[in-house]
Amino acid sequence: MSTDAIVLLKQDHKEIRNLFRKFNHAGESATQRQGQIVDQILEALTVHTYLENECMYPRVQELLPDLTQDVLESYEEHHVADVLCAELAALRPDSDRFHAKTTVLIESVTHHMDEEEQDWFPKVREGLGRKQLQDLGAEMIELKKKAPRSPAQPSALKKTVDALIR
Ligand SMILES: [Fe+2]
Ligand SMILES: [Fe+2]
Repeated sequence: MSTDAIVLLKQDHKEIRNLFRKFNHAGESATQRQGQIVDQILEALTVHTYLENECMYPRVQELLPDLTQDVLESYEEHHVADVLCAELAALRPDSDRFHAKTTVLIESVTHHMDEEEQDWFPKVREGLGRKQLQDLGAEMIELKKKAPRSPAQPSALKKTVDALIR
């Protein structure tokens, strides 16, 4: 199995996009089903964000300082998504704002993943090369074992809280 960091992150993106598609096709009236899908979305995003925030972004920033601006923009985009995730976790699926908030989350995360895949990952692949990407991926596989799974866990919101109180 490849441990290439970019391959692993793209697999996560694919899984997240599938969940987004499921939500969009669930039908507005399928409140309970939508609630279940959003639970899965929140779990997948919490784990993925943790791996990028704790491993991929800081390592890339360290090894490829030219990409610092991209990394900083990514932290901000994740921050917006984190806030929406935290709010959604506290909202009942039959609440007025549940569907709208999920739609905005889906739009903003889709934009962010598109940017990573089309623009950022190619630059990182060029800058780091095979061996470093495999080492990074191996590190992420280890990290995944202790990753938070819900936005309510303190380690999941650490970056968001840090940004708010800074
Ligand atoms: Fe990201
Ligand atoms: Fe990502």
